[in-house]
Amino acid sequence: MNTLTIKPVKTLSGCVSIPGDKSISHRAAILSSLAQGTTKIYNFLTAADCLSTVECLKKMGVSIEGPVNNTLVVHGQGPAGIKEPLDVLNAGNSGTSMRLLTGVLASFPFYSVITGDRSLRERPMERVLYPLQKMGAEIAGRKGSTRAPLAITGKKLSGIQYVSTVASAQVKTAVLLAGLQAYGKTTFTEPALSRDHTEKMLEHFGIPVTKSGLTVSVRGPCTLKAGGDFTVPGDISSAAFFIIAACIIPASDITICGVGVNPTRAGIIDVLTKMGANISIQNERIECGESVADIRVLYAPLQGTSIGGDIIPRLIDEIPILSVAAAAAQGETVITGAEELKYKETDRLKAVAEELRKMGVNIKELPDGLVIEGNTKFNGACCHSRGDHRMAMALSIAGLAAAGETTVNDADCVDISFPQFGDVLNSLVVE
Ligand code: S3P
Repeated sequence: MNTLTIKPVKTLSGCVSIPGDKSISHRAAILSSLAQGTTKIYNFLTAADCLSTVECLKKMGVSIEGPVNNTLVVHGQGPAGIKEPLDVLNAGNSGTSMRLLTGVLASFPFYSVITGDRSLRERPMERVLYPLQKMGAEIAGRKGSTRAPLAITGKKLSGIQYVSTVASAQVKTAVLLAGLQAYGKTTFTEPALSRDHTEKMLEHFGIPVTKSGLTVSVRGPCTLKAGGDFTVPGDISSAAFFIIAACIIPASDITICGVGVNPTRAGIIDVLTKMGANISIQNERIECGESVADIRVLYAPLQGTSIGGDIIPRLIDEIPILSVAAAAAQGETVITGAEELKYKETDRLKAVAEELRKMGVNIKELPDGLVIEGNTKFNGACCHSRGDHRMAMALSIAGLAAAGETTVNDADCVDISFPQFGDVLNSLVVE
């Protein structure tokens, strides 16, 4: 198993691009598989999670070429092109693959089984199964149908009006994808706005989506039009590691080009700006329905803050790296309303608290968040990713600002979302 060794750096400088957005890549592969005609997806994220989605779709009978040079070509044949997989589908480490594809599979008239790695098999699936079962789906799983592997017997589904207690884009998307084949209107209401890539992309694929506040609806059954040439923006969740690195390492000046800055994902920029960061959003434009911009970050000292409420879904994946920023800031930071972090690739509240403590951070775990004392002088330490890609990268960034060497064990998991992480980081380092 790969170990990352991180040495402290003087400063960061330069201009980089980062790979395609993970959430958007999954959705682009799935929607173009359901569509009638060919979609060419550029800047597709060639990382393990998205490749799991592609492999599952291939097993579901979809003709897909690539990815070659981050371009995926999908020859959709509409709903008729989705066939019974001959073998078990494997979503690997990817919650998005499993939850979104379960929404698709529930509505097709065949039997399928989907599983995942040890981490994914322990993550909650009832949040997706419950609304799908209300639509008429027949899905069973381990532990009282709450855990994968999931066995799905496809059924004719009916639209529902569903009010979710959790702000989860995966649940929202699973229900909307099932709703595309269901009879009548499917309406989904969430307690706070989660990422809205599905809604935006459905419109790009010719499906009318009705939106009102926290409610979104589609009407089925329907067939998507091919997406033509579709470009995936850079992933703000991957950019976040370098944005925060530049915020905590004196004299840094970096620009990250072509990053998706959809407001439902850009909570990290809002919080860092509130903390005193010097971040400018440049050349903002719309590409394939998504806001894209270049992000320039100049070092500036940060102040602690409080983070909670509706902003949480807008930065949910960035909390491990935000905790590093909070530890470096002056004063205390309190994060609340982030209980969802317990159900990610690992329990991220526990993992962040325990691993950052090894680096000298004074940090307390709350049932739904973290209290992080600032002014930390990080010490180099021997840390463990716990198999979680975002933990591995967050700890590496803390290591850049530490006194002495840091090692991050079990760091292969970086490949889940950002295989080029080390190369991009090295290209910004000024010795
Ligand atoms: C994702 C939604 C979020 C996020 C995950 C990707 C998506 O999960 O944490 O990394 O692509 O829809 P939840 O839906 O569980 O909040």
